[in-house]
Amino acid sequence: MSDWTADDVPSMDGKRVVVTGANSGIGFEGTKAFARAGATVVMACRSTERGERAASQVREAVPDATLDVRRCDLADLASVRDFAAGVRGTYDEVHVLCNNAGVMAVPRSETDDGFETQLGVNHLGHFALAGHLLDRLVTSTGESRIVTQSSGAHTMGEVDFADLHREGSYGKWEAYGQSKLANLLFAYELQRRLADAGVEGTKSVACHPGYADTNLQYRGPEASGSRVRYGLMKVANTVFAQSAPKGALPMLYAATAPDVKGGDYYGPGGFLGMRGPPERQESSDASSDEDTAERLWTVSEELTGVGYDIEALAPRPA
Ligand SMILES: NC(=O)c1ccc[n+]([C@@H]2O[C@H](COP(=O)([O-])OP(=O)(O)OC[C@H]3O[C@@H](n4cnc5c(N)ncnc54)[C@H](OP(=O)(O)O)[C@@H]3O)[C@@H](O)[C@H]2O)c1
Repeated sequence: MSDWTADDVPSMDGKRVVVTGANSGIGFEGTKAFARAGATVVMACRSTERGERAASQVREAVPDATLDVRRCDLADLASVRDFAAGVRGTYDEVHVLCNNAGVMAVPRSETDDGFETQLGVNHLGHFALAGHLLDRLVTSTGESRIVTQSSGAHTMGEVDFADLHREGSYGKWEAYGQSKLANLLFAYELQRRLADAGVEGTKSVACHPGYADTNLQYRGPEASGSRVRYGLMKVANTVFAQSAPKGALPMLYAATAPDVKGGDYYGPGGFLGMRGPPERQESSDASSDEDTAERLWTVSEELTGVGYDIEALAPRPA
């Protein structure tokens, strides 16, 4: 897979792909590649205006793209529910869900449901979304995949069950690390649950983009009004980051490559895992801790009110 590029995405004719955060950065580049391969892409965006603008840009590059821009604010469980209901009403089958949207190192704030924002958007919103769409994925013709975007920053994360929403003390990077570790705990636990239920046609896979030049790095400085941090990020992005299209490759690989297995983790194979073509990688020991994953799953079900009845979706014995 060393020379793998977006041109290697296999034909996706007839496939439906849902991408969160599709209007910017990695989600935008992923949308372009999925559309070029022939998929219908549901662009889940928190602003439909930004989503439509991005869709126009995708169509400039891929004139016959089939795109469906819809509102999905992961910081609002009602919006996630409404989005999923809309998708369910339109499509019987969903072949790929990319849990990609995210925020990084923002000052402490809360979602509409009272969750710390990074945990709420990056993990809990996606937990709810995947739960709402799971039956469409599992019952689709052929194979389906749920791809969850994590980060190398998961290694500095710790799930603090005593203060999940970091009300006691808040560190923006600690909270980001927690949310990105939660992404992996979720992705691997979902794969274990699918396998335990005998669901073989749906895989849960994880990825990270390395360091890619996107809007992500600017949201924190913007929110805290720090021009210095903004300027430093600009320099760092220019010097160290790979391009957003390259950052999208691990997600595209995880979503489409034939040799991907459930529970795999993909990231860039070059310098410090920050750049380069996608390869299968190992994540931290903490991300594979099954007790933590089960506990987080239970808490996530309680907080979101979204339950996963995977057994009910499993194939019946003949
Ligand atoms: N870029 C990197 O170096 C890097 C490294 C490690 C991990 N990642 C991960 O990659 C993913 C994509 O980030 P990116 O780099 O492409 O950043 P980006 O350019 O800032 O894109 C993030 C996307 O998430 C959306 N989003 C933010 N809050 C949302 C909400 N409440 N509801 C729905 N969508 C929301 C944004 O929408 P708006 O445009 O409306 O804000 C945007 O479309 C994230 O999960 C991030 O943690 C990125």
